[in-house]
Amino acid sequence: MKTMQDKYYREIDYARISITDYCNLSCRYCKSEADAILEKQVSQKQLFNLIDVLDELKFRKIRFTGGEPLLNDWIVSLVEYTNNKEHIKDIGLTTNAVLLDKYLDALIKAGLKRINISLDTLDDNKYYEITKTNYLQRVKDNIALAVASELIVKVNVVLLKGVNDNEIVNFLEFGRLNNVQIRFIELMPIGENDDFIKDKQLNIRDKFKNYQSREKKPNCKDVSDYYIDEYGYCFGIISPISNHFCERCNRIRFTSDGKLRLCLHSDNELDIYEYLNKKEELKALILNYIKEKPEKHYLNENMKANKGMSKIGG
Ligand code: 5AD
Repeated sequence: MKTMQDKYYREIDYARISITDYCNLSCRYCKSEADAILEKQVSQKQLFNLIDVLDELKFRKIRFTGGEPLLNDWIVSLVEYTNNKEHIKDIGLTTNAVLLDKYLDALIKAGLKRINISLDTLDDNKYYEITKTNYLQRVKDNIALAVASELIVKVNVVLLKGVNDNEIVNFLEFGRLNNVQIRFIELMPIGENDDFIKDKQLNIRDKFKNYQSREKKPNCKDVSDYYIDEYGYCFGIISPISNHFCERCNRIRFTSDGKLRLCLHSDNELDIYEYLNKKEELKALILNYIKEKPEKHYLNENMKANKGMSKIGG
């Protein structure tokens, strides 16, 4: 069997798997106020089954997300299990890095290749304002540890109007001095905190008009556009709203309560929880459901998904 294709001939070979809804930060644009206790939580064994099936379906890349995935200490055995599969070559993790020092060595030994660290400000007061915690120094130290390791490290900065959009130059300097790639992300209108998000949204491309853009290779699946600053430092911009990349989308998502989601911005989901113990049926379900992957998102037409990122997995 070849890599799966959807009906728009996109190759679907990248799965993001959220392993918990819980997070040790409380970022308002991401977490909902009423963070309900999950009715269901997929088990480690169920995730092993899912990974077996994704490997049989020739998935090439898996990213573990959350919530905060490092709150589940079986993350290491998951990475190790995935790394022993035949087709999955690329294993990533998205984390806020608060607990990274505890797991870094074990994750690398288990086969982790890349790590995306979420950090929206370099200022202590603002870090508290955004996350309601005081972990900034710890996160900076853990970024340094990750950069010094063999992992490919990226730092994701969600730009929030009036909160951190005056920190672009500071982040570019941070990226340059710490030898880490920064990617600025446009705030997306997902989740339950509509008013907050509306107030903080901005068109990210306007912010970078004065920077030189860098050509990407044709057929490149990377969702970032690249720019260069006056020091030659290269950074990324991810603008799912002002310049969507749906035609290049090769991903599907699994939530930590056992749902399969084909588009971040569409609330259509398939509940596969019951099938996570039945691999052949699970495989057939995934194969069939992928055909339903929407051609594109409709955020620009004022459609919006109601689940926030902490419940979908970034
Ligand atoms: N818009 C853009 N990015 C978001 N993230 C969470 N919610 C949103 C949103 N509404 C980011 C996190 C993290 C990644 C998983 O997704 O900050 O970097």
